Amino acid sequence: MANKKTAYSCQSCGAVHFKWAGRCIDCGSWNSLIEEFAEGGNSHFTRLDDDKTSKNSSPKNSRKADLVSLNGEAKDFARIKTNLNELDRVLGGGLVSGSVVLIGGDPGIGKSTLLLQTADNLAQLNNSVIYISGEESVDQVRLRAKRLGCHTENIKLASNTNVSEIINAIKEDAKNLDNKEKSPMIVIIDSIQTMFVEDLSSAPGTVSQVRACAGELTIFAKKNNITLLIVSHVTKDGQIAGPKVLEHMVDTVLYFEGEKDLQFRILRSIKNRFGGANEIGVFEMNEIGLSEVLNPSELFLTSYDRDTSGTAVFAGIEGSRAILAEVQALVAPSFIPTPRRAVVGWDLNRLAMVIAVLNSRFGLNLFDKEVYLNIVGGLKIVETSADLAVACALISSARDIALPKSTIAVGEIGLSGEIRMVGNLEGRLKEAHKLGFKNCIIPKANEKNKNFASLRKSIPDLNIHFISHIRDLAKFFPKN
Ligand SMILES: Nc1ncnc2c1ncn2[C@@H]1O[C@H](COP(=O)(O)OP(=O)(O)OP(=O)(O)O)[C@@H](O)[C@H]1O
Ligand SMILES: [Mg+2]
Ligand SMILES: [Zn+2]
Repeated sequence: MANKKTAYSCQSCGAVHFKWAGRCIDCGSWNSLIEEFAEGGNSHFTRLDDDKTSKNSSPKNSRKADLVSLNGEAKDFARIKTNLNELDRVLGGGLVSGSVVLIGGDPGIGKSTLLLQTADNLAQLNNSVIYISGEESVDQVRLRAKRLGCHTENIKLASNTNVSEIINAIKEDAKNLDNKEKSPMIVIIDSIQTMFVEDLSSAPGTVSQVRACAGELTIFAKKNNITLLIVSHVTKDGQIAGPKVLEHMVDTVLYFEGEKDLQFRILRSIKNRFGGANEIGVFEMNEIGLSEVLNPSELFLTSYDRDTSGTAVFAGIEGSRAILAEVQALVAPSFIPTPRRAVVGWDLNRLAMVIAVLNSRFGLNLFDKEVYLNIVGGLKIVETSADLAVACALISSARDIALPKSTIAVGEIGLSGEIRMVGNLEGRLKEAHKLGFKNCIIPKANEKNKNFASLRKSIPDLNIHFISHIRDLAKFFPKN
């Protein structure tokens, strides 16, 4: 191997620099360069399969890639059910055999709990499961398993952080398995930030270690059709720690999120090569672990049957599922020159836009008011079609008039005040109907959709209020 050179790699983007600097010139982050030792400049992934693959196989020039026709028989992915329906849904119908899944989340949010419960379910379904913890001792994991009521005899456990020792152990275990009937093998690594490869001298958790460990484990898993679940920490601003390459390397990226002091947790798919992204699964955390929440909408609605001003219910779509969420706004007089605006669960810039549109197109001036917006229950909404519900909540609070009982609102607001069409109106209205809502405020533009007539028939007792411009909201909030 080449001689050791000192290099500085950016902990935020992974760029390698040969001189230290206070700021990474690639991504612009400050204080992100950490001294690591570069090994001859090459990547470290080649060493994986006994060093021989590259040297002893056929001469370079005679090898070629196989070209096949695009039209041909294709095998469907073999899926391993985890029996945690919410997890299976987020994965697109179960774990794909031989795939690599990365799970990120805040400290203490419940990643290890989720994975131990998943391991237990998988083991009960006769899969071979190996759980490697780099963060906790065997005793700690056993105690947790006891607390969660896991039937653990089929899970193999190790507390180890050395990637080559881990790979050897898996190889050894797979050999023993060969004699019996071959069952799918699942390996859980908790967490990638604690793992290290020996030929890098930088500390575990640094960019080069994370990249090398994930690379070695991923290549090993893919070659041997092992399904790999990797836990990863997130940074202060909620990104998966380590370089972006980590996310590119794996097939599926999930985030486990939630407010620590609230009971429920949301598992969200950010990237999925085997299913839809942005799918969510909802869990509830208690002493005996995570349980699935079967009707999430009920969780996010609190006072929709009461007559309260400042709230509106939004019918959102998360992945393939409709979820109703309550938007609460508080508009209060301000005594400081720049009134406060605070948002939980939505985008602050988007709020500023809705406030500006309300001012110019609806005649509601909030510039000397403090504005607080909250999505109840800790749900994070990213859809622009929540604009209308936000506008309703703001007007409702400013004028102290409640929307008619059991009303949902959905629509995107344009800068000229027009209400734009939303996608999957059918899913949204059906969910609202199912939960007993009586009224909905929806974009007029959606009426032109060819499926609208049949949708209308399927929900006959839902009153529909079409609106095409933000000023049409005036009829719900008469000026007093
Ligand atoms: N003895 C206990 N009784 C009840 N709940 C517990 C107990 N121990 C832990 N918990 C719950 O489990 C949560 C921690 O879960 P877990 O360890 O799975 O999180 P994690 O995401 O793996 O954390 P880390 O980032 O530290 O690895 C705690 O926030 C707490 O709510
Ligand atoms: Mg943990
Ligand atoms: Zn950088």
